[in-house]
Amino acid sequence: MGSYVITGGTTGIGAEVRRLLFGAGHEVFNIDYRGGDIEVDLSTDEGVSTAIRAVTEKYPDGIDGLISNAGVGPTAPPEKIFSLNFYAGTYIAEGLRPLLAKKKGCCVMTSSNSITNSSVRMDWVELLSNLRNRDRGMDLARMIPQAQAASVYSSSKCALARWVRRVSPSWAVDGLRINAVAPGNTTTPMTKNLTEQQKDAALLIPIPTRYGTREFLDAEEIANAIVFLASKKASGINGVVLFVDGGIDALMRSERF
Ligand SMILES: NC(=O)c1ccc[n+]([C@@H]2O[C@H](COP(=O)([O-])OP(=O)(O)OC[C@H]3O[C@@H](n4cnc5c(N)ncnc54)[C@H](O)[C@@H]3O)[C@@H](O)[C@H]2O)c1
Repeated sequence: MGSYVITGGTTGIGAEVRRLLFGAGHEVFNIDYRGGDIEVDLSTDEGVSTAIRAVTEKYPDGIDGLISNAGVGPTAPPEKIFSLNFYAGTYIAEGLRPLLAKKKGCCVMTSSNSITNSSVRMDWVELLSNLRNRDRGMDLARMIPQAQAASVYSSSKCALARWVRRVSPSWAVDGLRINAVAPGNTTTPMTKNLTEQQKDAALLIPIPTRYGTREFLDAEEIANAIVFLASKKASGINGVVLFVDGGIDALMRSERF
């Protein structure tokens, strides 16, 4: 059975991914700032390098998959959102790429279906994904008021998805795959504290998120897609951003795919 590394596997979508991977007989190593097999703050350079060192020591013969899932939502400070959602994701993937290469493994990133909505600031996306310099990203984040954190969130996830698309050909050359899932609103600790007003706003889009009901998706529905992309069954899939949002992306951008 395989050896998988996950970030943010303690609660929510990540916990479901772990449950499914364990259920299929795989070994899973969880990097999280609480309840992890190693506990580090991935929003710091030190946390990222400690995690990469620990995984390299534990799995010298390589790993089959990386699920880069840790993230904070749009209520977090802008620095934290850029640091964790974009920089940690890309740095961890690059840092563990040599271990993935040993087993022709794959990486799945958790992005968001907000990457296509109007709150995305393309100038921020360009800065993040083209410059890839955390200090510059932090300079920018410090200038952004908390009131714009929703834009910071969608932009961080857009930069992440764009990075996945851009690097996937070079990963493919080495026999590796890298993909992303773009979940819609999902019931997890991240969304459980939303006020009724915030929930209503999230469900404003005129098709209800979940099969004709005004409910968020379940974490397991996102985890199923992640586990599929991380499996050999997805061996032909590389560089894809898979929307798992009950059809909202299709509604909003029917002609774009
Ligand atoms: N819930 C949604 O509606 C939704 C929608 C789209 C995308 N997502 C994305 O899904 C991913 C998982 O989120 P979730 O909804 O399961 O929420 P969650 O809060 O349950 O999961 C986040 C995980 O990341 C860990 N984490 C947070 N900060 C960390 C840090 N600094 N260092 C290390 N680990 C840290 C948490 O402990 C937790 O295990 C996130 O990337 C999130 O942006 C969620």
